[in-house]
Amino acid sequence: MRTAVVTGSASGLGAAICARLVADEWLVIGVDQRDAEVVVDLADPSGRSALVGEVGRITGGSLDAVIACAGVGPHVADHGLIVSVNAFGALATLDLLFPYLKGGTAPAAVAVASNSMGMIPPAPDLYAALLADDEPAAREAAASVDGPTVYATTKRAVAVGVRHRAEAWGAAGVRLNAIAPGPVDTPLLQATIDDPELGPHVDLLPIPLGRYATADEIALLAVFLLGPETAYMHGSVLWADGGSDALLRPDVI
Ligand code: NAI
Repeated sequence: MRTAVVTGSASGLGAAICARLVADEWLVIGVDQRDAEVVVDLADPSGRSALVGEVGRITGGSLDAVIACAGVGPHVADHGLIVSVNAFGALATLDLLFPYLKGGTAPAAVAVASNSMGMIPPAPDLYAALLADDEPAAREAAASVDGPTVYATTKRAVAVGVRHRAEAWGAAGVRLNAIAPGPVDTPLLQATIDDPELGPHVDLLPIPLGRYATADEIALLAVFLLGPETAYMHGSVLWADGGSDALLRPDVI
């Protein structure tokens, strides 16, 4: 039986990924702030360290897959939190569990970005701090930037972080890819729709397929990236947004 760690497992996309993996007979270690096998706060460096300790204890130090899915939405008032969970929490999850993945069978990991990174230009100071791996500076820079831009900039940092890791991870035989979903019908999207400021903008996004994704549709894609069908996919960012990015940026590949 293969073993996977899924962060953000208590809700939305993470819960759908766990359900899909369990249906495919994986042993799943869910990680979240609540209702999970490993309960930690990924916004906090001590929570990230606790994650490594717990996963090591449960698995004996060998792991086949990681899906870094935990995240908070652009509606969250504390922009430092968006930075710490979506960028530093996600990349730390990958980096800290990488040693365990090296001991796995056909190991692979997936990070969850967002199609917003293609639509909203990154905030320069925030993006520079993210690339410099400077969490205090990134949190400070985020305080004066609007929520959707902070969110999109963190997701860009995650996708770029995946590409930056391609050489080292590839050499270790561990595949790493990202997905960039458009709106997915989850509590995070609902909270954005319910936000008095951001809500009216959500449906301004043109979606050629004319609807949001279901969590299960995106879960299938994430799980697909762990399997033998994608054995040569590495360092890729897969868009799954109903065609919005193609519509808005037709000449960007
Ligand atoms: P959700 O709100 O349903 O689930 C997110 C989960 O992450 C929750 O269970 C939450 O407790 C957990 N989490 C948040 N902060 C945490 C922390 N500090 N430590 C540990 N766990 C924490 O949201 P959803 O929609 O399922 O989001 C999953 C991922 O998909 C996120 O990274 C999100 O940015 C991304 N995404 C979502 C889209 C959408 O439209 N729903 C679109 C594109 C990307």
